[in-house]
Amino acid sequence: MREITPKRIMEMKGKEKITMITAYDYPSALLADKAGFDIVFVGDSLGMVVYGDKNTLNVTMEQMVFHTRAVAKAVKRALVLADMPFGSYEVSVEEGIKNAIRLIQAGADAVKIEGGYDHRKLVKKLVRMGIPVMGHTGLTPQRYLRLGGYRIMGENEEEVEEILRDAKALEKSGAFAVVLEFVLADVAKLVTEEVSIPTIGIGSGPHVDGQVLVWHDVLGLYENSPPFAKRYANLREEILRAISEFRKEVKEGKFPGKEHYWEYQDKERFNRIKENVKRKLKL
Ligand code: KIV
Repeated sequence: MREITPKRIMEMKGKEKITMITAYDYPSALLADKAGFDIVFVGDSLGMVVYGDKNTLNVTMEQMVFHTRAVAKAVKRALVLADMPFGSYEVSVEEGIKNAIRLIQAGADAVKIEGGYDHRKLVKKLVRMGIPVMGHTGLTPQRYLRLGGYRIMGENEEEVEEILRDAKALEKSGAFAVVLEFVLADVAKLVTEEVSIPTIGIGSGPHVDGQVLVWHDVLGLYENSPPFAKRYANLREEILRAISEFRKEVKEGKFPGKEHYWEYQDKERFNRIKENVKRKLKL
C-alpha cells in the first residue's frame, strides 16, 4: 500500500494544501513521486498532450490501462489516480464498475470520473466495493461538444447550481475529493466551504484545498498552454537545443567522441581476427 491514501487526502482538507500533477509514463511518474506530490494522476488529458488529439473524447480504456500500469510501477509513495475515459462509465453502472476494476488492476489506487450528480449511483457502488473515487465538476472536458469548446464555468446561477449540486452529490456518495476545473474563484470558494471533502482546483483560483496541473504545461513542453497554467520551466527550448546539438554533432562528425566508444587496443590481434573471419566467410 502506498503512503498517501484517500483517507490521508481527506484529512488534509483545511490543514495542508494537496498537490497533484499528471504523469503518463514511468520516468515522469518517478520524478513526480520523488518531488513529493500527494497525487500522481494519469489524466485522460494524455489524449491531447501525449497522443496529439484535439480533445479527450477518443481516449480508450486500453490507453488508460497501458499508461496507468507504467505510472503505477514508478510510484512508491503518492496516491496513483487514474481517469475513467469518455464512454467507459456513462452507458451503465455495470460497465463503469468493470472499467474501474481494470484501472485498479493496472495499479491505480483510485479512479476519477467527470461529473457528480449524474453518476452518484456509480460512485456509491464503487466506494462500497472498495474503489475510491474522485469526482470532477466545473469545466468537464468530456462534455467538449456540448460546451462548444473549453471555457470558464460558473458565470450564471444555473452553472453555479450545477457545480455545487455535483460537489454535494459526490460528497454524499462517498467520493474522497472533487476536481474543480476552470470555475470562477468565488464559485470554487463557495464549493470548498460547502463540502466536507477536499476540492482540487485547476484554473479555479486559490480558495481550494489543493491544485493540479498538467505535466506538459508545468514544464513548458508545448508552445501554447491553457491561460491558467503556470510554466515552471521552458523544457521545449531546452529539449530543442539538446537534440539540435546532437544532430549537428553527427553531421559534423563530432559525435561519438573518444569517450563514447570502445576499440581494440591491440590492432595486430584485430587484423588477425579480421583476416580469419573474412576467410571463413569467403569475403
Ligand atoms: O485529464 C486531466 O488532466 C484532468 C485535469 C485537467 C484535472 O482531468
